[in-house]
Amino acid sequence: MDIYVDSANLNEICQAKELGLADGVTTNPSLIAKENGKFEEILKGICHEVSGPVHAEVLSLDAEGIVKEGKELAKIADNIVIKIPMIHDGLKAVRKLDAEGIKTNVTLIFSAGQAILAAKAGATYVCPFLGRLDDIGHDGLELLSTIRTIFINNPDLRCQIIAASTRTPAHIVELSSMGVDILTVPSKLLTQLEKHPLTDSGIEQFCKDAEKFKNL
Ligand code: G3P
Repeated sequence: MDIYVDSANLNEICQAKELGLADGVTTNPSLIAKENGKFEEILKGICHEVSGPVHAEVLSLDAEGIVKEGKELAKIADNIVIKIPMIHDGLKAVRKLDAEGIKTNVTLIFSAGQAILAAKAGATYVCPFLGRLDDIGHDGLELLSTIRTIFINNPDLRCQIIAASTRTPAHIVELSSMGVDILTVPSKLLTQLEKHPLTDSGIEQFCKDAEKFKNL
């Protein structure tokens, strides 16, 4: 199981890397917009730090534009993966980029049908958004489980799942139990996973008790 950092912030990415939690990085236009600097420079900086896949999203919405932009982004570094929104023209672009050996990630997946079409088009990865489905009263984890079953039962669909829009420690635990290929996790959630009140109170008690023999 790979864990990616869902961030364009170099500090957050480096902190996760120190703990072995940066097998890759996913970015999107909203995450890049939070940072200072030019789009390409931000991506170059991330690719310099992380040897695994770094996902960079196109802004074009027409097939020709997506292919052109994808090819430009692919020149930034060997580990760039082109993130493409789940639209008709996006699927056409995925096919073309795949034929040229450029890896793609079809993002903003909210149904199993969309995941099937993306995988058939030749996407290397699909990115279902759990949290955003939960937000509208649907079950994001159920969608993940369905897509996973479809891909397991149809090994000709050589496409990996990146569980995105993860929001809670429970999401991470459930997805890991399910055996999902890749989880992309915001840095705030990585910190939440680290913490437990009983760990904190246990350390406090050990430190207090150690005072009795430390200076003997
Ligand atoms: O990679 C993008 C995805 O993870 C977005 O998450 O929290 O904005 O729904 P969120």
